[in-house]
Amino acid sequence: MSIIGQGLDRLDGRLKVTGAARYTAEHPVPRLAQAVIVQSTIASGAVLSIDDSVARSLPGVLAVMTYMNAPRLPVPKQEAGAPPAAPTPLLQDATIKYNGQPVAVVVADTLEHARHAAQSLRIRYAAKPAVLGMQAAKKSLKTPPPRRPGEKTDAIRGNAPGAFNRSATRLDAMYTTPIETHNAMEPHATIAAWHGDELTLYDSSQNISGVQKTAARTFGIEPSKVRVLCPFLGGGFGSKGSAWTHVMLTAMAARLTGVPVKLALERTQMFGPVGSRPMTEQRMRLGAARDGTLQALMHDTVSSNSFVLDFSEPSTTITKSLYMAQTLQTTQRMATMNVGAHTYTRAPGEASGSFALECAIDEMAYALKMDPIALRLRNYAEQDPEKQLPFSSKSLRECYRVGAEKFGWSKRTPEPRSMRSGRMLVGWGMATATYPANRDAAKASALIRADGTALVRCGTHDLGTGTYTIMTQIAADALGLPVNKVRFELGDTLQPESPGAGGSKTTASVGPAVHAAAKAARDKLIAMAVADRGSPLAGLTADAIDVQDGWLIDRQRPERKEPMVSVIARNGGAAIEAHSEAKPGDEKKQYSMHSFGAVFVEVHIDPDLGTIHVPRVVGVYGIGKLMNRKTGHSQLMGGVVWGLGMGLMEKTEMDWRTGRAVNGNLADYHVPVNADIGTIDVSVVEEDDPHINVLGAKGIGEIGIVGVAAALGNAVYHATGKRVRDLPITLDKLI
Ligand code: MOS
Repeated sequence: MSIIGQGLDRLDGRLKVTGAARYTAEHPVPRLAQAVIVQSTIASGAVLSIDDSVARSLPGVLAVMTYMNAPRLPVPKQEAGAPPAAPTPLLQDATIKYNGQPVAVVVADTLEHARHAAQSLRIRYAAKPAVLGMQAAKKSLKTPPPRRPGEKTDAIRGNAPGAFNRSATRLDAMYTTPIETHNAMEPHATIAAWHGDELTLYDSSQNISGVQKTAARTFGIEPSKVRVLCPFLGGGFGSKGSAWTHVMLTAMAARLTGVPVKLALERTQMFGPVGSRPMTEQRMRLGAARDGTLQALMHDTVSSNSFVLDFSEPSTTITKSLYMAQTLQTTQRMATMNVGAHTYTRAPGEASGSFALECAIDEMAYALKMDPIALRLRNYAEQDPEKQLPFSSKSLRECYRVGAEKFGWSKRTPEPRSMRSGRMLVGWGMATATYPANRDAAKASALIRADGTALVRCGTHDLGTGTYTIMTQIAADALGLPVNKVRFELGDTLQPESPGAGGSKTTASVGPAVHAAAKAARDKLIAMAVADRGSPLAGLTADAIDVQDGWLIDRQRPERKEPMVSVIARNGGAAIEAHSEAKPGDEKKQYSMHSFGAVFVEVHIDPDLGTIHVPRVVGVYGIGKLMNRKTGHSQLMGGVVWGLGMGLMEKTEMDWRTGRAVNGNLADYHVPVNADIGTIDVSVVEEDDPHINVLGAKGIGEIGIVGVAAALGNAVYHATGKRVRDLPITLDKLI
């Protein structure tokens, strides 16, 4: 039985619970100085002056870096397809684009000295009127570019407005979602050290090769002169996919002071400088025939945007391909304001878009007096309506069926307020989940040593997701070695290059590269054995040999076999090494590739107080092949927890007079804790997808969050008769 798929314990688990796993801010570097950032207190305008005379005289202070003395950076050429330079002005001028923008970096021998000195800076500003809030920002809308070349931002199929007007049953409703902040457990941190013109960065990053390229462009040096390391990561969720301002500022401070510098952001400093999910206003218009056939599906999204960099929350993506509507129209616009940069946040677009779409479908089901699953099945997309391609695999029907059965959906009485548990109102709601199956090119290397151990490497990431563990499983399977003989290393740009860990694509991208490298090393060993007169396998063809538990075995006559170590020993004892690159072919031209799922939520709501409890969630997913039952289920569960947070708690509260987040800490920015979470029952259906990649894995990092907020909103409506179209669904909206 293959090790792939088994629920192997996390190989880095012991290191983590004993504190031996070294996170970015914990790396010991000699002569390390400490830096803190000082942030603007206005949202728009410029720094007039900074008086640092006191700061400079304080003990331990090495430098106060401002726009006046910061190293001048080359202006990077904007080449097509090149990664962007760092996203905010890096103290190259006095301009202020958001409240909280770093305006100074103070470097000292200790953190306390740096903080003390930072507080003594006297900064004067010339404020300009800021654009703050949706109403103001919507006066000038921008259309984002398509997400990929050849695609369109807005989709039009047929005459949707006409079909909408002629439809027997219509829904026209506005859904809104707030700014959300990722809040990974590990705050962002960077350590920068220069050796001549070579830069070493320890960075809390889910995209080390991206940070490498951005740093190279920012400082005008070759990428090969930049090394980025991140062996452990305490969560990323999209926020650690970019090389934010503080990363480059740390490297600039290290250059200015001539010593290595560490900069670790405080929790509060993560509200603004390191990205957030945009807020959205999503107008849904659905027109249906009496039998539930969708005649018109329209989805118009406006998402907030910053002046720092353009980013649009692509909430309409999901609407383009989830249902087979007769006509379709989607638009995406950005409303730009003086806030910190927005960026990818776990399931960017799908998480927010599914709230609007899947609540609207539920509202339509009520209007039609249809079961919400039946309505979804009525409009089931047998092929991708947007790309006009068959799906490489799609188990959504099975997900609905299994999920409904596990949840007990058939016992639901559809009328709002019709189910009770004691004095609590009970609500049952469901929604569809989907996420694209992404893949990029990746490289890996594999080494089989004379002692029968193997070292496999790829410069990828483990965000807490299980990469160390599943890549070891994939490598062990291909090498024919037990997992305890295989070591997998990641998190260093000196290793073979991997794409950033975003878009749920690490398994589908890195997995095939690891598989290929391990297989290539194994094949070299087999070739060595069959060509070796001293081997019992001499003269056999390579494909007659199987590998298992460190042995090479004749498939036909399994008693004819030899340990791998003897083959290597007889041939000089040198390690056997192989490199590989794996990349997608043209399968995306033939198939549309998506994961699908169905999520069911039960809520108990106090009719007097409006408090919402979620005793149970059932999620069933078709995600191709699961690489590790334990880490995979954990990740799906984590996605569901995120969805519950998004549905019930998460909101970055902005003071729109000043442009500052007022709940920039984990006491006031609520995320679910154990007491908020009931039973989460996640499972996957058998899905054999031969088109997707050699492993048949689609990726599971993000689909877990998709649909949860909608299922929750639908359950809340079922419980109370109140349709809340504005996230998060808090008790004040129910009483
Ligand atoms: Mo994800 S938002 O692609 O880390």
